[in-house]
Amino acid sequence: MPSVFIKTYGCQMNERDSEAVAAQLVAKGYVLAKSEAAADVVLLNTCSVRDFAEQKAINKMGNILGTARSEKRTQITGFMGCMAQSRGRELIDRLPDVDLVLGTQKFHRAAEYLDELLAGKRDKIVDVDAEAKSEATIREHLLNGSAKTSVSAFVSIMQGCNQHCTFCIVPATRGEERSRTIPDIVAECRELAARGVREITLLGQIVTSYGRRAINSTTPSAPKPGNIQHSTFNTQHPTAEAQPAINIQHPMNAAGEGISVLDASQQVTGSRCEVVQESTASLDGEKEKKSPFVQLLEAVHEIGGLERIRFTSPHPKGYGDDLVAAYARLPKLCESAHLPLQSGSDRLLKLMHRGYTREKFLGLTRKLRCARPGIGITTDIIVGFPGETEDDFEQTLSLCREVEFDNAYIFKYSPRRDTPAAAMPDQVPVTVREERNHRLLELVNEIAARKYDAFIGRQVQILVEGPSRKNAARYTGRTRCNKIVLFDGGERHRGQLMDVKIERTGSFTLYGDPAVVNL
Ligand code: 5AD
Repeated sequence: MPSVFIKTYGCQMNERDSEAVAAQLVAKGYVLAKSEAAADVVLLNTCSVRDFAEQKAINKMGNILGTARSEKRTQITGFMGCMAQSRGRELIDRLPDVDLVLGTQKFHRAAEYLDELLAGKRDKIVDVDAEAKSEATIREHLLNGSAKTSVSAFVSIMQGCNQHCTFCIVPATRGEERSRTIPDIVAECRELAARGVREITLLGQIVTSYGRRAINSTTPSAPKPGNIQHSTFNTQHPTAEAQPAINIQHPMNAAGEGISVLDASQQVTGSRCEVVQESTASLDGEKEKKSPFVQLLEAVHEIGGLERIRFTSPHPKGYGDDLVAAYARLPKLCESAHLPLQSGSDRLLKLMHRGYTREKFLGLTRKLRCARPGIGITTDIIVGFPGETEDDFEQTLSLCREVEFDNAYIFKYSPRRDTPAAAMPDQVPVTVREERNHRLLELVNEIAARKYDAFIGRQVQILVEGPSRKNAARYTGRTRCNKIVLFDGGERHRGQLMDVKIERTGSFTLYGDPAVVNL
């Protein structure tokens, strides 16, 4: 039985892809190795979002190959995922001992290619071609291979992104938006629930665009011009030509945008919270349909046995009123939202091609907090985007002070090949990027610490995932608003929804006591 070790870099989508490849290989008779040194096959699932992530994987592969050579071991090695897709054969030119380069539309071919390489039938394989319907092939799960995933699972609902933010390499690594159908996704979620999974996180590069277009659409009719009541987003993107997806009632306008968020001034008046209206009268008198993504959430919500639903990553501009209202309406939808901000400066948001303004972003956070008080809101921010002045950066700081994110992932701008921002004037010096990163991090940590401390003495519901990775004597779970809680637990707690009282906090961690409440 050949053994395989997969190391994953980057986001949850990559983690999910690795899990699907591992499950596929186990089904073909491979065993999972505990370390790279003990494996017949080593695969690195790569991230391209910043240069640093690429260099890490390249260095790692260099070390793996060097060690195998010096120990005279034969090992099949491969790159897969985003960097494999964007660099292709170039990776083998750089590291000639690498055997396999597998692109983001080819994960399902891993077993077939590894069999050929192990049998010596082929010497090198590079496959980074596009493949129709590959978005529906990431579906196998390794439930017993990981304690965490047997309680909580990721489900890939779409691949690709058409937004073309000027800093971002994802359209080049993941391709055009392609969505799976609702019945296909629901079938996978149902199967997971039947196997004991209680929480599902729906994944995609831009989930709010779910179902907005499909490469193999069997419903060729174009969507009717929408009835956007509060349409305030710029919809001028050159590729925003909407195509309806299969099995989805389509509410989008011709420019491919969902129902946009209201202006901040329109929805929160004084202390009153005007709950977002979900349906609006359309131009032709039809009742407005919900966006495909909300239709998907509703369908998954129906599944018995599932307790919690999450999703990531949405785009703030696709966060329609129907989605905000879904938080108030669907109890299984956890009160947590990851809203990638990128910058608090309108000037930069425009240069980044984000499609929303600072005010609209603020309006969205207020609406979400109205729909679900206590909602956990996290974000991504880039510092040192080309042309970012001290004033632009100050606006990011002030927005963070206003929103009070529960956490923010801060990225120093990294020029990516073939992206418009890489060629923009006024690239910000590395020292300035570092200094801004440091200042923003201090602010984010200070705000987050305050927010975490506010939990002390409160009772929260957690879903217990299993023993903590750092200390097996402790068990770990998450609150509905996505905060990690550690407590003195045991196997009997795994998979349980339980109430704990928060006693103290650590760095982005809550410590709870279940005994005080119900055990
Ligand atoms: N440089 C720095 N950060 C980037 N991100 C995406 N592209 C870049 C880049 N070129 C960040 C964004 C995104 C997150 C996943 O990575 O903040 O939301």
